[in-house]
Amino acid sequence: MLNPEVFILAIESSCDDTAAAILCNDKVLSNVVANQLIHTQYGGVVPELASRAHQQNIVPVIDAALKKANIKKEQLSAIAFTQGPGLMGSLLVGSSFAKSLAVALGIPLIAVNHMHAHILAHFIDEEGFDKPEFPFLALTISGGHTQIVKVNHFFDMQIIGETTDDAVGEAFDKSAKILGLPYPGGPLVDKYAQSGNPKAFPFTKPKVPGLDFSFSGLKTAILYFIQKEKAKNPNFVDENIQDICASIQHTIIEILMDKLKLAVQETGIKQIAIGGGVSANSGIRNTLKEAEQKYGWKTFVPKFEYTTDNAAMIGIVGYQKFLSQNFENASVVSKARIQF
Ligand code: KG4
Ligand code: ZN
Repeated sequence: MLNPEVFILAIESSCDDTAAAILCNDKVLSNVVANQLIHTQYGGVVPELASRAHQQNIVPVIDAALKKANIKKEQLSAIAFTQGPGLMGSLLVGSSFAKSLAVALGIPLIAVNHMHAHILAHFIDEEGFDKPEFPFLALTISGGHTQIVKVNHFFDMQIIGETTDDAVGEAFDKSAKILGLPYPGGPLVDKYAQSGNPKAFPFTKPKVPGLDFSFSGLKTAILYFIQKEKAKNPNFVDENIQDICASIQHTIIEILMDKLKLAVQETGIKQIAIGGGVSANSGIRNTLKEAEQKYGWKTFVPKFEYTTDNAAMIGIVGYQKFLSQNFENASVVSKARIQF
């Protein structure tokens, strides 16, 4: 008789977080992340240091995920890992480990696209969280991506808009750097913005046709604005940090919302799901929830722990691929860039 319980070990190592999760079907039993604090002092992720830290972290993180889930490795049904996109040195640590363990245990190996995972994280079974119905629109906003995706089915997705330069996470992080905040600055901009006036300093929104985005102009506008104000008052940033952060965040949210409204208009789809690290942003989360009333949309905001990079989202894609027996052999390769 087929065992109805599928236990998946999922491994995520695409950037600077080493993460492992255990899923039983679509439920998360454990979700462990080791953040690499080493990058803070360099103001951004240093690829060489990231892969070294993954090597140090991967065994303890997987051990912790198994222990927390109370699962022995012999009970695992399959191993899912992030194939890409990401930093090659980081991806290789996760994929090599996944391959070795799958071969040693004699169980299937599943390759997962990190961007699919940010979108499909909504299919994790969580109390209080609804799952979107197909088709829906996904806004993926992370440190490396900004995309509007039409999701027809689990693995039938189409990018209908994307950034032409910086990702929205970079817009947050680079603005934060201009303000002298440490990396990654996104969460700090969010924190300060909560007690600031979003209309204090208006920044011009870029004019990009269609559903594409651009954030590099905003970063330059912020840089010039801060330089100009600091020339008049050297303490300008310290004295106005809340209002500056609220104004930056407000502009970014307006840029995202304008394109989402256009995407809804063009596709007729009113179900919107967000994913990726920037979907942790409280302003974006609130604005989307308000859009339900305002525009009659149904919006899906992930549980906080499934927003920034995590392995539970890799596990849910792994589970879907397990159901369709979509397995790889040990010659599968990591891909820094990967087709959607
Ligand atoms: O998805 P993610 O963890 O890694 C990538 O795949 O890029 O996203 C990381 C990005 C960083 O740019 C970080 O600053 C941003 O997500 N981020 C936030 C917040 N939390 C994380 N940006 C704005 N507000 C937040 N609360
Ligand atoms: Zn990510």
